[in-house]
Amino acid sequence: MTLLKIARMGHPVLLKTAEEIADPTSRDIGRLLEDMVETMEDATGVGLAAPQVYEGKRVIIFKSPRERGEEDAADSDFSPLTALINPEFEPLDDELAVGWEGCLSIPGMTGAVPRYSRIVYRGYAPNGQAVEREATNFHSRVVQHEIDHLDGVLFPMRMTDLSMLTFNEELKNFMEYAMEQNAGEQNAGEQDGNPDEVDA
Ligand code: NI
Repeated sequence: MTLLKIARMGHPVLLKTAEEIADPTSRDIGRLLEDMVETMEDATGVGLAAPQVYEGKRVIIFKSPRERGEEDAADSDFSPLTALINPEFEPLDDELAVGWEGCLSIPGMTGAVPRYSRIVYRGYAPNGQAVEREATNFHSRVVQHEIDHLDGVLFPMRMTDLSMLTFNEELKNFMEYAMEQNAGEQNAGEQDGNPDEVDA
């Protein structure tokens, strides 16, 4: 296994549409996935898409660890480490939630991004089996973030309020400021976790 270099925002590889994979079970894809897992774990991310490691292929990995949620949360909030080839999703309804996201290709920054709360996603496992799952909350968010990478979309491109793009170190100050400004109003997003732990 090899640690791969992670492309950063501005590199054209992150803006291109990735190619469909003809054979999800090929050795090349297997090797790429092994390296992606090692790279993501080394960077303590929760998701990674192949274009982030300079491979324009429709391949993603992600996880939504159980410790992230509350004990009474739905099973669909969580996912073990999963590899998905040629993934797609569709929203199950129109509900959007705003939550904080980071990206291994935009190191040190966090932004509040609206995403569908409930989706169904489909794709292929590395053994060639078709996968179909429902995902909610953070699980839904990380899958949408990774599939966006396959279409050249980075999380700031999904933001509707760019004043909510902050450096990780400033997030605490930002939250205090936002709460003062919006006292009594709906706050602009629940935090999905420590910003250091949501890079995808
Ligand atoms: Ni990302």
